[in-house]
Amino acid sequence: MNPVEISAQLRKPSGTNATAMGERMTRSNANVIAACIELLQIAADDNVLEIGPGSGAHISSVVSAADNVRYVGIDWSAAMVADARKNNQSLIEQGVVTCCEGNAIATQFNASYFDKVFSVNTIYFWENPQQQLGEISRILRPDGIFCLAFGDRGFMQALPFTKNFTLYSESEATGLLESCGFTVLQRRQHTEVGQSNANEQVSKRFHLMRCGRVQNGVTL
Ligand SMILES: C[S@@+](CC[C@H](N)C(=O)[O-])C[C@H]1O[C@@H](n2cnc3c(N)ncnc32)[C@H](O)[C@@H]1O
Repeated sequence: MNPVEISAQLRKPSGTNATAMGERMTRSNANVIAACIELLQIAADDNVLEIGPGSGAHISSVVSAADNVRYVGIDWSAAMVADARKNNQSLIEQGVVTCCEGNAIATQFNASYFDKVFSVNTIYFWENPQQQLGEISRILRPDGIFCLAFGDRGFMQALPFTKNFTLYSESEATGLLESCGFTVLQRRQHTEVGQSNANEQVSKRFHLMRCGRVQNGVTL
């Protein structure tokens, strides 16, 4: 695949290359996804939403993080939803995992339904980040937690396939979150040297932010 094709596949995997791209993302992002799940601090009985799980190889680690956790993944790629369902068939049959197709900017979920929401490597594709964060705010319970993980603008902009991505530095993402009523409670960085989605060795730096909400100047 050339950089333009890789870029389109990362945004919304489709067609004959979709499954291969999902597997490639799993290989290159497994560690940062695991770090984000750890930062989420999943507790017993949590309802967890993930935006953009791709092929969902990590979903079993979410539901096994505590007792009676239920997971919903929403992805706008029909191909990724199909692969995530195949990879998590038994958990879906048990009723603890749901994988659905849709744009996370406007969902059908009830207000305050989720205790935790997380998303890794999707912010670059959000069409309207304020509206997307508003929707997360709506479906997250008032004192719920949102964890966001993304690659730093610095290394991402040097990659050949990110020309159409919206990239963020740590301070730009913090400003965006704060302008939408979130406050960053905890920050982590995840660095590793590994393969990019174009199969090149790169030094990667990710920001992970554990966010709560502020109301009348008080963090909920
Ligand atoms: C670059 S992949 C990242 C997949 C996985 N989170 C990872 O880090 O390896 C982005 C995924 O998010 C999905 N996606 C991007 N924006 C989305 C949105 N607004 N709503 C739902 N899914 C979205 C894409 O279809 C794709 O599966």
